[in-house]
Parts: sequence; structure tokens; C-alpha cells
Amino acid sequence: MGISIVKSEITRYDSIDWANLGFGKFFSDHMFISIYDGTRWDDGKIIPYGPISYEPSMMTLHYGQTIFEGLKAYYNVKGGINLFRPDMNAKRMNSSAERLCIPLFDEKKFVEAIIELVKLDQKFVPRKKGESLYIRPVCFGSSCFLGVHPSKEYTFIIITSPVASYYPEGLNPVKILIVDEYVRAVRGGLGMAKTAANYAASLYAGMKAKEKGFSQVLWLDGIQHEFVDEVGAMNIMFVIDDVLITPPLSQGSILPGVTRDSVLKLARDMGIKVQERSIKIQEVLESYEVGTLQEVFGTGTAATISPVGKLYYKDKEMIINNNQIGPIAQKMYDTLTGIQHGEIEDKYNWIVHIEI
Ligand code: COI
Repeated sequence: MGISIVKSEITRYDSIDWANLGFGKFFSDHMFISIYDGTRWDDGKIIPYGPISYEPSMMTLHYGQTIFEGLKAYYNVKGGINLFRPDMNAKRMNSSAERLCIPLFDEKKFVEAIIELVKLDQKFVPRKKGESLYIRPVCFGSSCFLGVHPSKEYTFIIITSPVASYYPEGLNPVKILIVDEYVRAVRGGLGMAKTAANYAASLYAGMKAKEKGFSQVLWLDGIQHEFVDEVGAMNIMFVIDDVLITPPLSQGSILPGVTRDSVLKLARDMGIKVQERSIKIQEVLESYEVGTLQEVFGTGTAATISPVGKLYYKDKEMIINNNQIGPIAQKMYDTLTGIQHGEIEDKYNWIVHIEI
């Protein structure tokens, strides 16, 4: 049996403020849902987007056994719709699932469900460059039980949301606070899994940073508070002395970003020297002092490429590249979005094209 479809009788299309999409505010007409009953995932169905009901004893509300993903569908300038590396999201969801004791979901089915959903809600894929249909798969334990155990039953849902840029700044540089008072994740913890707990852990420091006018927080390692980890909504990259440097996944507390991986591949192919290595915040400060810190930018599905114009650490302000986007960040943005929108040849086979 394939995925069954129940079409919505009404559309949310006209209630969307297409000129002001922002991020994650509007949702398309349908969602995919599949249930694990304790032994197997069912075939799944596509139904109208809407509320789902659970008892208050549903485990995830209490113990947070939940994982999610984020990917995008782009309008292809030559027609049709492009998904960007959905296989990587399917794999990452399963590695998060393993860490959170959630039963694995068939990776082919994951991509197939997204294709069916995007096909059905194709009119929600924005036509403007810089905009896209954000796809949010989420999976959680849904048994009703209060003992601290992995859930027996699970729910897997995919929703979609037409979006513009994640930060209101768009491609203009953001201002980021480096914190050492709070931590997001530690080696051996959940930092490498895309699970709600990491985002919950980031909220307090993020709120404090916002009150002071910062867009986000840059996290340091959770033990020595010395090594750069990531931003939470994106991975972080530095250009120092013409070398693109980013913390390694082996640090154990960093999310393996799909955009991170893509940028590293593009950079290597463009002949840019790349180093995946631990980087101390002290090294960032010193390179700023001697004038070799050329660029800082974040990479993420929601954020795409987000240049960092100002970095604050303790009382020190670092203004990066005169608070302008740097040449490597710009090149990465142009190449990545060019491939995503079908303007640049996809020599990596990253695109899954959907005919409409
Ligand atoms: C993404 O980039 O897709 C994310 O999930 C980051 C954030 C929106 C939570």
C-alpha cells in the first residue's frame, strides 16, 4: 500500500501574507502522518493540516523524546520544484532517532512522503529567489505513560511552511554574542542530534542576548568554555588568513549540518583551503587583533548563509569585514542558491527534481 491522500476542502493560500512571509508563520494545506504502533510504522497518509489530539499523559510532553528535521523545496527557474539533499535529512533523522531510542523510519519512504506532500501543495512553493517551502519532519514518542522509558508508540509528521529568510537581516550581517555562562550541549550529550532539548537549552541565553540587541548566541564547548561549537540555528565558519575553518563534528556536540557539508564540498572544489578542526575562541580573538580574521558566517537550512558582522565576547567587540558580507560567504550563497533554484548545474547530484 502507498501513501493515502485525503484532500483539504479549503485552502489556506489566500490567508498567507505572501509579501511578508518571515519564517515559520504560515502553513500549507496538508501534512503527512505515520504511526508506529509498537511493532512497525504504518504506510502513512496525507491529510489536511490541522490540530492533532493527545492525552495529557503523552510521554513527549514530559520527557521530550522528540526529533525533527529541516529542509527546503525551491522553485526551479526552468520549471518544477527542487528538493535539496533530502537523503541527508533522512539519514540524519535516523541517527537522531537512534540516539533518542526512536524506531528508525524508512529513508526512501521519508523522501517519498516529502515528494508527495510537496506535489500536492506545490502552489505554496514561493516563486521568488531567497524564498522557499520549508519542510519540517518531526517525530515523537506518543504513548501515554509516566514512567521514564522510551515510548512504545510514535508519531511522525511532516508539515510545510512557505518562508523567506530566517533572520530579518536576510543576507545583511547579524550581530552575535559569544556566551560562556550557559552551555547548549556537551560531548556525550545530545548536541549532535536534532532534538528539541538542544533548542530548549538555548532559549534562556538566546532571550538574554536578544534583550541586548543580538540576533543569536555563539556557543562554546560545554566543559572548558574554550572551543567554538555552533550557533544553534546554524553551524559557524571563520575565514582566517584565507583558510575556511569550522569546528569538526568529532567535537561531539555539533549538529552535522547539510548546508555545512555542502559549503565545505563547494569550498574545496573552488580551491579554498578548508580546515575542519577545533578552534579556540582565543584564536578568533587573536586573529582579529592581528587583522587576519577576514570573515565569519553561519550555515544552516533555515539560515542558508548568514554573514556575521559583529561578534561580542566578554567586553570585546569584533567588527568583521567592516560589517559587510565577505567574498567567500557571498560566493557560497550565490552558488548554493544557484544550484537550489536550478540556475547553476548540479554536478553533485544534490537536487531531487519534482516535475509539476
Ligand atoms: C534548520 O535550519 O532547518 C533548523 O532546524 C534550525 C532552526 C530553524 C531550528
